Amino acid sequence: MVCEGVGHKGMVLLRTIPLFKGVQDPQLEQIAQVATRRKVVRGTVIVRAGDDTDSMYILVNGSARVMNSDEEGREVILSILGPGSFFGEMGLIDGSPRSADVVAAEACELLVISKADFKRCLQENFEVGLNIMKCLVERLRDADRKIESLALMDVYGRVAKLLLEFSEIHEGQRVIRRKLTKQDIAKMIGASREMVSRVMKGLETSGYIQVDDGLIILDEG
Ligand code: CMP
Repeated sequence: MVCEGVGHKGMVLLRTIPLFKGVQDPQLEQIAQVATRRKVVRGTVIVRAGDDTDSMYILVNGSARVMNSDEEGREVILSILGPGSFFGEMGLIDGSPRSADVVAAEACELLVISKADFKRCLQENFEVGLNIMKCLVERLRDADRKIESLALMDVYGRVAKLLLEFSEIHEGQRVIRRKLTKQDIAKMIGASREMVSRVMKGLETSGYIQVDDGLIILDEG
């Protein structure tokens, strides 16, 4: 892990992070002074489930998987975080150990804020507390949707729903631009990789999706 301070230049960066939306410049300046910048390589376990909590993280670049596993090594991906997301706040809010592993899915650049600085930041900036609440509500909605699809849908439906959730409109087409492997999909919907492969082949044959050089294009018809 490579670590360095954020300094004054970090202000420009902090203004782009949704967590700090609405925070005034003097307060942002204080945050820039206490945050440190860290670079990690792909595969680094940034946060480990069960560990004590000491800091929270903001993902500046790259992506990270939030995941849990059982004793047999079976894994579930709870979320895939992209630039601008934060993690590691749960343990700081309720004092419990880390709830999940957070693993760098590619090289990542992070901002790290210590527990004491995070608490001070929350006390001094109502906006930050509100932004965190909004994100937690979004996660709860997301978890509700997942419970619903696990309880009510077959694997075919779950794959289709997930593809739709990960898609965006780009140049007039609904596409998935983020890197999403079949293994990732399997770990997110609680199915085997083989089953996901079969379902995706079926979706392709039926014309619902096109897989083109790793890019998944969804048919909106
Ligand atoms: P913490 O429990 O401190 O450490 C693991 C982190 O993973 C946790 O804080 C959250 O920031 C993040 N996390 C846990 N569950 C989810 C989820 N369902 N979606 C997104 N992030 C999560």
